[in-house]
Amino acid sequence: MDLGLKGKIALVTGGTSGIGLAIAQKLAAEGVGVAICGRDRAKLNAAVDSLKSAGVQGFSADVRDPVSVKGLVTDVVRSLGGIDIVVSNAGTHIAGRVSDLSSAELLNHFTTKVAGPWELARAAAPHMKSRGGGRFIVIVGQTGKVPQANGIVSTVVNAAQHAFVKSLSDDLAPSGILVNAVCPSRIESPLTHGLTLFNEVHLGRSLEQQESKWGAEVPLGRWGTPEDIANAVAFLASERAGFICGANIDVDGGHQRMIF
Ligand SMILES: NC(=O)c1ccc[n+]([C@@H]2O[C@H](COP(=O)([O-])OP(=O)(O)OC[C@H]3O[C@@H](n4cnc5c(N)ncnc54)[C@H](OP(=O)(O)O)[C@@H]3O)[C@@H](O)[C@H]2O)c1
Repeated sequence: MDLGLKGKIALVTGGTSGIGLAIAQKLAAEGVGVAICGRDRAKLNAAVDSLKSAGVQGFSADVRDPVSVKGLVTDVVRSLGGIDIVVSNAGTHIAGRVSDLSSAELLNHFTTKVAGPWELARAAAPHMKSRGGGRFIVIVGQTGKVPQANGIVSTVVNAAQHAFVKSLSDDLAPSGILVNAVCPSRIESPLTHGLTLFNEVHLGRSLEQQESKWGAEVPLGRWGTPEDIANAVAFLASERAGFICGANIDVDGGHQRMIF
């Protein structure tokens, strides 16, 4: 299926690793001009190097800082000529119970995953409107729908992300900007590799036990790949998803346990 993405311009935050890197690669393969950002310069340089043949451009930015986000959007528009697609992917998972984590840690995560996309929307939407519309896609995570005692910070923040996506969708749909969420679970990446190590230390399971247990809990019987998420994002970014608006799409091999 031709996704009709050729010639579009995309910004992928957290595009230096795992899911974001795969999204950048997929969009570039579809003929999109792609910008990625991250905080760690060495990772950024390595990612840009690995995507050099696709012409992907890298920008150093911390999505927790509103000045950094505004500067990022300005730089991307100046270098690539505009923005049609924003993929707000930067973030991590915070493991731990309420007794383990301070409210400062909660606020730091909220700043990354809610205030970051908030500033991104404020900065990018005028440019997208000037081009007749676009796509704003937020990568969320399963704890927003399936609360976890041992992941309470991510649970609270991801639920707020869902509320943000739906409200922003109402706001921007009349301007032709379709806002949607993609909800990954059990995707192999540097992040989930770190979590298995965390659980190995704290639950006394071997890495092999942890990884195979998590894979076995997925109805499709395997971990997902960053490319599984990238395929869904490319579809949502395309004209083929022109009537999908304010949705959150699970890409998880059937793992997340909820009906609505
Ligand atoms: N993998 C899964 O199964 C899964 C499940 C649920 C949700 N998710 C979500 O999917 C997204 C991608 O996860 P991943 O598994 O690909 O993790 P990852 O490999 O650790 O990648 C995270 C990316 O986000 C960037 N980042 C983090 N904080 C940032 C900040 N403040 N400003 C700018 N960039 C920042 C990182 O770059 P720097 O290190 O340079 O900052 C990196 O490029 C995350 O939001 C995560 O919560 C993943």
